[in-house]
Amino acid sequence: TGSHAAAGFHVVITAGPTREPLDPVRYLSNHSSGKMGYALATAAAAQGARVTLISGPVALATPPGVERLDVETAREMHEAAQRLAGECDLFIGCAAVADYRAESPAEHKLKKRDGETGLTLRLIENPDIVAEVAARPDRPFVVGFAAETRDLEAYARDKLNRKGLDMIVANDVSAAGLGFGADDNAALLLWRDADGDGGEVLPPQPKSALARAVIERALERRRATAAH
Ligand code: PMT
Repeated sequence: TGSHAAAGFHVVITAGPTREPLDPVRYLSNHSSGKMGYALATAAAAQGARVTLISGPVALATPPGVERLDVETAREMHEAAQRLAGECDLFIGCAAVADYRAESPAEHKLKKRDGETGLTLRLIENPDIVAEVAARPDRPFVVGFAAETRDLEAYARDKLNRKGLDMIVANDVSAAGLGFGADDNAALLLWRDADGDGGEVLPPQPKSALARAVIERALERRRATAAH
């Protein structure tokens, strides 16, 4: 693939974790560093695309030439994604979005209560960002990720179908030195085809190289899919 395979395309990528407030000083989150999503942004820009990165809180520099929108919560990420979904050609959900948020975050800092050994938090579901992008009538080509600790292929195939995605990048986040926070990653790429299901194994490699492979394959699949 040449270096301008994505010229004229707008690529939107979600990256990093979300933070769901419990009170003014505490939140629920996860270990996503943003490295995978930022590597995808770099790879898409290198292919000539216009790239918008919707980023949760991370400690990374914005890749050159990439437009970055900073968000904190899943609902903020959802709003930004919906705003851009209708005007992009390729949407990649790489963010580790919190599936749940506190139902009613406390207005003031929660106090430790003497004599009580436990605290119950009530959580409610967040919107599913990639699924909602994929459900739009004016949908772009949609790529999701699946972070699994077991039965990688079965769970990823289920997410691909249930969320209505075009392609999914499944990574085993229990493997040492790969996944959350690491510089390397490995993945099983899965997609849906008119003539059956397709897949490709991407062995352990730097996230920069894996990102290039994902972008190239997504552009290829997008071209091959008549509906887009
Ligand atoms: O950021 P790094 O440290 O580099 O780590 C990279 C990574 C491990 C975070 C990344 O490779 C990865 O797997 N990202 C997806 C993490 C995740 O939340 O996976 P999931 O299986 O829970 O979600 C499935 C898909 O739905 C993902 O595309 C996710 O972005 C999306 N989702 C999930 C919940 C939700 N409410 N909205 C969503 O869009």
